[in-house]
Amino acid sequence: MSPRHFLRLDDLSAAELEALLARAGELKKERRAGQGHPVLAGRILGLLFEKPSTRTRVSFESGIYQLGGYGMFLSHNDMQLGRGEPIGDTAEVVSRMVDGIMIRTFGHERITEFAAASHVPVINGLTDRFHPCQVLTDLFTWYELRGSMAGRTVAWIGDGNNMAHSWINAARLLDFELRIACPEGFDPEPDVVAAAGSNVQVLRDPAQAARDADIVTTDVWASMGQEEERAARERAFGAYRVDAALMGAAKADAMFMHCLPAHRGEEVDAEVLEGPQSVVWEEAENRLHAQKALMELLMG
Ligand code: CP
Ligand code: NVA
Repeated sequence: MSPRHFLRLDDLSAAELEALLARAGELKKERRAGQGHPVLAGRILGLLFEKPSTRTRVSFESGIYQLGGYGMFLSHNDMQLGRGEPIGDTAEVVSRMVDGIMIRTFGHERITEFAAASHVPVINGLTDRFHPCQVLTDLFTWYELRGSMAGRTVAWIGDGNNMAHSWINAARLLDFELRIACPEGFDPEPDVVAAAGSNVQVLRDPAQAARDADIVTTDVWASMGQEEERAARERAFGAYRVDAALMGAAKADAMFMHCLPAHRGEEVDAEVLEGPQSVVWEEAENRLHAQKALMELLMG
């Protein structure tokens, strides 16, 4: 039987996603109460990184350990992969020795190629196209504090990037309205948008996107791998900063979310990032709880 992978958020059904959010809440409560939950005792998760990370690495390594397993950090620079060993061969070999693999890489086709050759579940820890673990966590953050996402409105301000794509997948799955405000030339991929149907609108005006929104969220203007485009992107995205005025267009109790790392004074002002509507530190912690529920589902 081929293993179950999590390469994009809509690899889960809506019912599975809801169950995962509930389970993440239980695991969080148990951890807060000092209760252990060794449901993956003796299992090994490989953590293969081709890009830097703080939250993803720490949450997966801590998470697998808290579930009774072991996390094996694998940097592409220290592997034969970094010297040109094919990704499919790497998958064939590594997946014979571990019970699950999280990968952070560049092109999404690298992770699909890895998954096609893998004998164990593969988890997407970010590709250029999707960041499903982060949006899973953001949904959990909302779910825990406010409940269902159905009928809510999310405003995405900025680049139509990997995070935007995973929010688009979420909008269709959980039936909420997603308004993406991005400058021309930085739209999300049309096929990803089209698959979400009427749940997603692409706009140019950030204030229009933020109007009466329940969540306002953004991300860096230049993602990992786009360092050389930084100056051009700063020019293009100047009007797409989340500041107090933009938050003022949203509902009075709207949440501000950001996957982090953030650049104060670029995509978000410090007063919003550190202000009372911001849930960014809770989101960061929730990576741990949401991904523990995910590992349990896939590797249990
Ligand atoms: N949000 C996120 O994925 O952070 P890292 O790049 O630090 O893992
Ligand atoms: N869009 C960002 C997210 C970082 C967590 C990137 O890909 O670099």
